[in-house]
Amino acid sequence: MTDDRCPHMSAPLSLGTLDGCVVACVLHRGAFDLSTGETATFPTTGGLDADGMHHAPWAMAGAPPKPEPSESKANARALTRTRRLRFYPARIREGILEARVPEATHGVEA
Ligand code: FES
Repeated sequence: MTDDRCPHMSAPLSLGTLDGCVVACVLHRGAFDLSTGETATFPTTGGLDADGMHHAPWAMAGAPPKPEPSESKANARALTRTRRLRFYPARIREGILEARVPEATHGVEA
């Protein structure tokens, strides 16, 4: 079980496509393994992965080349980090889906 948010720029993953355990995001073609949280395909924009390694921008085969973004946009892309997909342990027991999700910490007074 996972959040409905891409670990790149928070697009709803429910709009993407599922191939086995890998969900593909519609916004920048990033793909993420639901069983491990790892990135299967890096987003087209490039940037930093969860470990801080840089990945270059890329384009789909046969797609027309995109114009180079402005320097500030290119710099922002290069420094944008794609995190590991957060997922939560889940099981189906007696026909009921059970998931362990973190406790909410906002809006709670101590
Ligand atoms: S928002 Fe999902 S790949 Fe960029």
